Parts: sequence; structure tokens; C-alpha cells
Amino acid sequence: MSPDHPLLPLLPLRDIVVFPFMVIPLFVGRDKSVRALEKSMAEQKNIFLSAQRNPDNNDPAPKDIYETGTIANILQILKLTDGTIKVLVEGLQRGHIINFSDNNDFYQVKIERIQENEQITPDLKALMRSVGSAFEQYVKLNQKIPLEAVSATANIIEPHRYADTIAAYMVFQSNDKQALLETFNPGDRLDKLFGILKSEMEILKIEKRVHGRVRKQMEHSQKEFYLNEQLKAIQKELGKRDEFKTDIYELTEKIKKAGLPKDIHQKITKELKRLERMQPMSAEASVAHTYIEWFIDLPWKKGKGAEKIKISDAQKVLDKDHYGLEKVKERIIEHLAVLKLVKKIKGPILCLVGPPGVGKTSLGQSIAKATGKKFVRVSLGGVRDEAEIRGHRRTYISALPGKIIQGMKKAGTMDPVFMLDEVDKMNADFRGDPSSALLEVLDPEQNFNFNDHYLEVDYDLSQVLFICTANVLHTIPQPLLDRMEVIRLNGYTDDEKQGIAKKFLIPKKIKEHGLTKSNVKFTKESLDRILHDYTREAGVRNLEREIATICRKVAKNVVDNGKKYSAKIEAKTLNDYLGVPKYQRRPVNEPLPIGVATGLAWTEVGGELLSIEASILSGSGKLSPTGKLGDVMKESAHAALSYVRSRAIEFGLKKDFYQKTDIHIHIPEGAVPKDGPSAGITMAVAMVSALTNTPLCHDMAMTGELTLSGRVLPIGGLKEKTLAAYRGGIFKIILPKDNEKDIPEIPDKIRKEMKFYPVTNMDEAIKEAFGRKLKPRKKKSAKTKAGNKRSTSRRPSATTLN
Ligand SMILES: Nc1ncnc2c1ncn2[C@@H]1O[C@H](COP(=O)(O)OP(=O)(O)OP(=O)(O)O)[C@@H](O)[C@H]1O
Ligand SMILES: [Mg+2]
Repeated sequence: MSPDHPLLPLLPLRDIVVFPFMVIPLFVGRDKSVRALEKSMAEQKNIFLSAQRNPDNNDPAPKDIYETGTIANILQILKLTDGTIKVLVEGLQRGHIINFSDNNDFYQVKIERIQENEQITPDLKALMRSVGSAFEQYVKLNQKIPLEAVSATANIIEPHRYADTIAAYMVFQSNDKQALLETFNPGDRLDKLFGILKSEMEILKIEKRVHGRVRKQMEHSQKEFYLNEQLKAIQKELGKRDEFKTDIYELTEKIKKAGLPKDIHQKITKELKRLERMQPMSAEASVAHTYIEWFIDLPWKKGKGAEKIKISDAQKVLDKDHYGLEKVKERIIEHLAVLKLVKKIKGPILCLVGPPGVGKTSLGQSIAKATGKKFVRVSLGGVRDEAEIRGHRRTYISALPGKIIQGMKKAGTMDPVFMLDEVDKMNADFRGDPSSALLEVLDPEQNFNFNDHYLEVDYDLSQVLFICTANVLHTIPQPLLDRMEVIRLNGYTDDEKQGIAKKFLIPKKIKEHGLTKSNVKFTKESLDRILHDYTREAGVRNLEREIATICRKVAKNVVDNGKKYSAKIEAKTLNDYLGVPKYQRRPVNEPLPIGVATGLAWTEVGGELLSIEASILSGSGKLSPTGKLGDVMKESAHAALSYVRSRAIEFGLKKDFYQKTDIHIHIPEGAVPKDGPSAGITMAVAMVSALTNTPLCHDMAMTGELTLSGRVLPIGGLKEKTLAAYRGGIFKIILPKDNEKDIPEIPDKIRKEMKFYPVTNMDEAIKEAFGRKLKPRKKKSAKTKAGNKRSTSRRPSATTLN
């Protein structure tokens, strides 16, 4: 084996061309190649590397392998776990196959070494320089080649080696590489390499351009998207601003039209300027906005004066809306006449006082109608906080003006009829006294500059016609009461209720239920039965409700049977419409059991009959009052007992009778709280009845406060109590002499039917109650007298005995 023609094992390469001076790892898997390697390792570690013409050919024949290749030295060999071999080779020299031999194990080739021309001419140097700078540019363009490649090649001075090293670094088609390998002349090789570099650079540039364009396109669309999003946000923001601007503009226009007084106009314009500078959606802005709107919504224009009221028309309206109430209407008309004359609503405030359902609210509405004014109603029931009247300061979150200013906004004019309902149900507590705020509202000397905490400016209430309503007077604070002209509305008599039902309630309900007069007719007896068996009230609210119930049932029948349907409501058929009676009657001529007396109570809902029971038990002188009695009532029970003890001998009792007896006083209905001193004489009478075993007159009721010495003191609410007795079919009343002065107040019709027994002391009361001077009796007896029907059962309610 000549050194110029070595015989070497052949390693055919797929897709790789190895140049001299190149160090490269190769992965060898084919058996033939592995054996070639083993052979080489066993000898001088040299091997011939040559590329396959077709890289896919798995078992290449000699013709499939390029003749020109590279003699290489094996530097390292490593067997991998999958059976392949990783071999690190270093190219040494070009070689040309001059003979193939196949020993079945591997190819053995005879090689002709290709000697390189190592001459360096200026032409070659120039060529090297051009290739060098092209390579530098190429490396810059191709990010896959490390920049060190440039410095690694810079020091090579041999042209052939320079070309081969650069070619080894470059990435280009393997058949071009093979062509380069086959170019033996260094000048030609550099030339070809330069050409390849140029075209590769061209390709790279195009690639870069395309890349750039794609990126730009992507960037462009991203940018567009981003800008669009931003645009939308800006437009939205601008829109809000725009909206806000129109809002401010609208507010400005509204302020112009609101007719605000000069100083308030200035204040609000200032507030508006402040608002303009605020962030549109901020909480601060919404507070300022609401504040301004309150001023816009409040009425500021003066209303018409009271001198325009036509008294005759007012009378007509009041008569048209309300049955009876002559005295009340007269007082109202007088009040209006004074207003007309003084041309101002200055003067006492009307206060309508009476039990529920007697028409206080509806009278207020009528007054508004009669004077051609707007009507607003504000309920003060349960108001405990001054701020509810006068508003909260604006510093509070969600602060609002008080009920008065809210009412004025609702009214929309400065001169409405303003009803303050339930002034008697206000309470004072730690949050301030609402009644003191109300004082300012109702005081004609002060209310032209009423100060609401929220508004912060004075508002003129002097043109408002205030009307208060209350069920009782005693809970209204005195200073407030002093400013009021009280008009009492008492409970109605049965006759009046009949009249109200016939003239007002029935026509009203018929209309409300879509019926006609011919569809439903009420007999007098049926109304009477509704009054006694289904309602027990001073007013007519429940009566109205029961009539509505009947109308509803009739309406259903009209729908079922046609418009011609007609129902006659009779006393005996009432159960079909209203169910079982709500109140039980006890015939009035039934005798009273021993120890039972009939008292009279006066409550917020009117007068009531009150049955008081006393019973005697053997014991040790205890008195037990039961039936949810208040302290005052318990005390008056004790006072009654003391009186009875002091008169024991006169009643035929043993002087020490109380030592062996207990007395139990009970007032049904046990669950309803009761209090007040006016049952004093009734309790004493009941005790005497029980102790002497003598029944009382069953057709007599009584009321009066009792002192220990037996004096009878006056009571309140005589009129209401008398009406209650009348309603219950009792026509005889024992009353304190001092209350005689109240008798004329009782409606004529009732007064004439009633018999009053004024008494100054208990002895007189006993005489009237038992119908005679009392003598002790042993046997039970019942003195009966014919009388109207009456009942002892009552509607539950808080009971105050005055
Ligand atoms: N004299 C009357 N004539 C005609 N209708 C009446 C009369 N009195 C009361 N009414 C009617 O009775 C109903 C109840 O009256 P209203 O609501 O005015 O009672 P009120 O006195 O305000 O009671 P409350 O104290 O409970 O507020 C109304 O429908 C009213 O029209
Ligand atoms: Mg009312």
C-alpha cells in the first residue's frame, strides 16, 4: 500500500459532505458502516468519507457513491445504547477513489490523495478578501452561524484551506458542497464559494424581507387592533363627557326656568360650576347633582292668595263630600273666611281630632278641593328623629330633605293644603324632638324661612295651609297644641252611619266595583246588622270595608249571570256575604250577674262599653285586679275598696268583712291593656254588688273618678262615651256632676233619648246604680227592665279610661 494510494474502509455519508480540516460528529448505524469503522479502528484509524448520490439509498453500490471524498482521522468513538455509534472525525485531505472492493463486510477503497496547491498569488489574496467580507456579511445575515466563525477563519492564509473552512461553516445544499469538494484548484474553489456565498446571501436577504413583511403585517394588525380599542375607550370617555356636558346644559336651562329667588339662584349656579369641574361619574358629582335637582324640583313661584277662595263654593264641596259634620264644616268655613279676609294663611293651624275613620283625612282633601289647592299628606306616625322633619345634612351619605320639603316637592306649588297626619303619634328620643322642628313649621311668624338641614337655605312655607290630624289630644306636646285650632270629630251615631253609607259609601263602592245601582240594594235592616254584628267602631272605615266585600261578591255574580243580575242585601242573608258575625250580641234586657257593672271607656278609637266584674272569695283581705290593668287603674281599684270598707256598716256588711275575704276585680277582654282613673265608681259599684249579693240595673252605664272620701271627679270624653252607650243600647248614664257642662256637645238626637244621672259623691252613685238606697239582701234577684239590645263584647284595643 503506497502512501499516496492508501487502502481505506469507506464510510458512505447521507447528505453530509466533510471537508478537510473539518471536525464533525457522525452517527453511524448501518452494519456495513459500523464494520468499516471497526476495521479502521483496528488499523491506523483512518477512514475515507464520501457522500452518497442519493441520501435515501440504504445499501449504496459503488456507483451510488461520489468518487471524491475526504480522508479523515477518527478522533473518538462512542457506542450509544440504541446500537448506533457516534464518531468524531477530522477531515485530513481530499481523496479520489480509484478502486472499490467489497469484502462483503464493508467497502474497501483505494484512494488517490489530492495534493493542494499552496501557492499564494495576489489574485488569490484578492479573492480571499472578497470571500472573507462576503462571509462576514453572510454570518451577520444567518443567525444560525456563530459570529466567532469569522474570527476563526480570519487567520487562515492558505487559500485552499480558507475556502474549505468557510465552506464547512456554511449551510447550503449538499450537492453544491460536493461540487466544491470536487474543485481542486484553490482559485476556482474560492470563486465558486464566492458565488455560493452571494446566492446564499441573496436567499437570506429575501427570507429576511419576507420575514420582516410578515412580522410587519402582524404588527400592523396588532397595532390596528390596539388603536381601535383605544379609540373605543376614548370615544366612550368622550361620550360620557358629552353626556355630562348635556346634563349640565340641561340643568342650567332648568335652573333658569325654576324661578329661584335671586340669592338661591346664585348659590345654585355656584354649585353647578363646582359640579362642572367634577369627575362625571364620581360620587361627589352625583351628590351635587341630586342637590341641584332638589332646587329645580321644588316650587318657588308664589301661589294664589287666600282672597281668591269662594266661600259658597267651598261649602258646596264640603257638603258634597261629607255627610253630616255640620259643626265641623261650619268651623272649617269660618276658618277659610278669616283667611280670605286677612289675605294670608296666618293664624292658627287647623287640627282635626277624632277616632279613626271619621273622615279627617278625607275632610282635608275636601278642603283642598274647596279652595282649589293641591293636597299633600305626610304621616308623622312613628317619627322620632328631628331629621325626619328637617332633613339630614348633606355631609351624610344619601342625605335627603325632611318630610316637609319632600311634601312641598310632591305638591309642586307653594300654597298647597298640607296635611300632617297623626301628629299625636310622634315621639321624642335622643335623636332630637321632632315636635320642636314641627313648631317652626307651623308657626306663621317663623315658617316663611323654614330651614331644612339638607337644603341649607330658607324655604318659605308661609303660604301653605297646614292641617293636622290626630286621634287623641293628650299626647300632642302643649306648645304644638297651642298653635292649633282643634276641631273635634266625634264618632258617628248609627243614624249618621246609615246616612253616610247610603249617600256616600254605597254609591262610591258600587262605582269602584264597576256595578250599577240596580245590581245591588241594601235594606236599612241589613245596614243596621252590619253596624252591630260586623263592625264596632266610631268611624265608618270598617263599614266601608264590609260594603266593599259585599260589592265584590255581587260583582262576581254579575260576571257569572249577566248585567241584569240584581242582589237585595237583607239582614237575614248577610251571613252569605260576610260570613259569621264578628261581634256577639247579648240581649240588653238580660239581667246582669251579681258583681258585674257596666262602665264606659274612652279610647283612641272612640268610646266603648266596659264590663267590670267583681267576685268575693274567702281569704285574707287581698285585692287582685286583673285584665291587664295599668297602674292608675289598679290604684283606683284600691281606692274603691277603701271607700267600700269605710261604708261597710251602711251596706250592711260586717266591719271587718275584708279580713276574711279576698276580692277579685277583673275587666275583660283580659289581653287588652287598659288604664285610667275613670272606672273608679264602676269598680266600687261592682264590689258593692258582689259583697251585698245585689244585682245592678242592667240598662245603666257609669263613668267617674272616685276619691277615698267618696267624691266623684270629672272625666274626659263624655260625648264619645255617650255614643258608645247609645250604640250598645244603654240609655242611662251615671256621670260626674262636673261633666254636666259637656252634655250639650252630645248630638241632639242622642241627647234627647238619653237619661243622665249627674252625681257628686259615691253615695248618690250607688243610689242610682242600684235604683234605690241600698239595703243588704241575702237572696239573688234580678230586676229586669225592657230596653234595647246591647252587647258586652268589644273590639280589642288599647283602652284609656279618663
Ligand atoms: N261624614 C262622612 N261622609 C262621607 N264619607 C265619610 C264621612 N266620614 C268618613 N267618611 C269616609 O270614611 C273613610 C275613612 O275616612 P278617613 O280616611 O278620612 O278617616 P280618618 O279620620 O282620616 O281616619 P284615621 O284617623 O284612621 O286616619 C273615607 O272613605 C271617608 O270618605
Ligand atoms: Mg286619616
